[in-house]
Amino acid sequence: MLSSKFGHMRALNVTIRIGSFCFAVVSLLLFSSFFYSTPAQTNAQSDSQSGAQTGTPTKAQAPMLPDGPGKQVVMQKCTQCHGQEMFALVRKTPDDWDQTVTKMTTNGLVVTDEEYDAIMTYLAANLGPLPPKINVNKTTAADLQKGLGLTDAEAQAIVKFRGDHGDFKTWNDVAKVDGVDPKKIEAKKDVIGF
Ligand code: HEC
Repeated sequence: MLSSKFGHMRALNVTIRIGSFCFAVVSLLLFSSFFYSTPAQTNAQSDSQSGAQTGTPTKAQAPMLPDGPGKQVVMQKCTQCHGQEMFALVRKTPDDWDQTVTKMTTNGLVVTDEEYDAIMTYLAANLGPLPPKINVNKTTAADLQKGLGLTDAEAQAIVKFRGDHGDFKTWNDVAKVDGVDPKKIEAKKDVIGF
């Protein structure tokens, strides 16, 4: 009676031991599979992240601020709430920039007087209004020559061409005019207007 009771207990004991051994093995497996899978997952994640950074055009084509005095301050102060893409392609007069930066201070921007001056100097020098476009359908030969860096003969050829064929529609049309150096036109394509 007593021995069988002990026998039961021993059997129970063994069962518990086997059970806890199994439990230990299973949890070890689970644990190690967790450990082995975690680095693999993070690798995959960082791969896709770095892929997104190098592979997608957004990063490569993100507008960059031009170099110039005060850029450091602008980078430090103006990218705290949004990226530089918020303003890198924006063009404003100094007055309008002044208003914008004042608005940013109400948004929460904190700057010293020196930092403010550095920011305004940078914005005026680098993100000021673009020069007015040169209308290739209306501008005189003399102004075409000056504005587009052409020879007199090239400017005359453009004026003659538009007289004969009507208005230019793209800078490519201008570049194709006989006697005009297409490279000069391409270099000025952003200033060419119609
Ligand atoms: C404390 C946060 C913060 C900081 C710092 C900050 N901005 Fe902004 N900015 C905002 C918020 C919020 C908006 C969108 C709402 C708005 O237009 O005010 C914004 C919008 C803008 C815009 C688009 C709207 C417009 O008026 O043209 C420009 C440009 C801009 N910021 C430029 C800057 C420049 C330049 C600096 C540095 C001098 C700067 N920001 C610093 C918060 C900030």
